[in-house]
Amino acid sequence: MDTNQMKKIAAEEALKYIPENSMIGIGTGSTVNYFIDKLPTIKDKIAGVVASSKVTATKLRALGFILTDPNSVDELSIYVDGADEVNSNLQMIKGGGAALTGEKIIAAIAKKFICIADSSKKVAVLGKFPLPIEVIPIARSFVARNIVKLGGFPVYREGLITDYGNQIIDVWNLEILEPIKLEQEINNIPGVVTNGLFANRPADILLLGTENSVVTTAR
Ligand code: 5RP
Repeated sequence: MDTNQMKKIAAEEALKYIPENSMIGIGTGSTVNYFIDKLPTIKDKIAGVVASSKVTATKLRALGFILTDPNSVDELSIYVDGADEVNSNLQMIKGGGAALTGEKIIAAIAKKFICIADSSKKVAVLGKFPLPIEVIPIARSFVARNIVKLGGFPVYREGLITDYGNQIIDVWNLEILEPIKLEQEINNIPGVVTNGLFANRPADILLLGTENSVVTTAR
């Protein structure tokens, strides 16, 4: 099975977790796109959808879904999203697709976070994948200097503007042994909007597409 097939079987497995009459949060990325493609098959179960990014919103609208504004929901039954890396505590690095801020907000609103990924995303220690940080543009260099103090190597993702008009710094060279601590430390730097560590709010269930089947891990 190739990587795309592994993403697809993980995404299709997630359909089984959607309760009747549920409000669903939808992440961003190629794995989630497989999930979105299948959503019309369970349309009668879905009370509403909340998108984590403009890209996802466009895809959902094209399939006839009417989007719900996150401001008008106080609770989501479920959030389904991919990851760039995930460890055994179901903590993740996300934001490879630059949608980390929307993703973190919708994940925080949701009662249950289901992470769907192919087996290449499973790691023992987070940090090989460069950690994305969304920054207010005037703070980019200041944030980068502070990241160097933390031992990281920051690289500006040139030409990229996020859904909220901000910029992204990708941080290389991190071996993240204390993900919750680092998530908080980075968030405390003035000018940081969000960082791509999802450790304080990890996934609740990981559906990992492997060579032969989907391996389920619950926290
Ligand atoms: C986007 C994300 C994605 O979930 C992450 O990049 C994984 O993407 P893919 O499913 O394409 O491998 O965080 O901001």
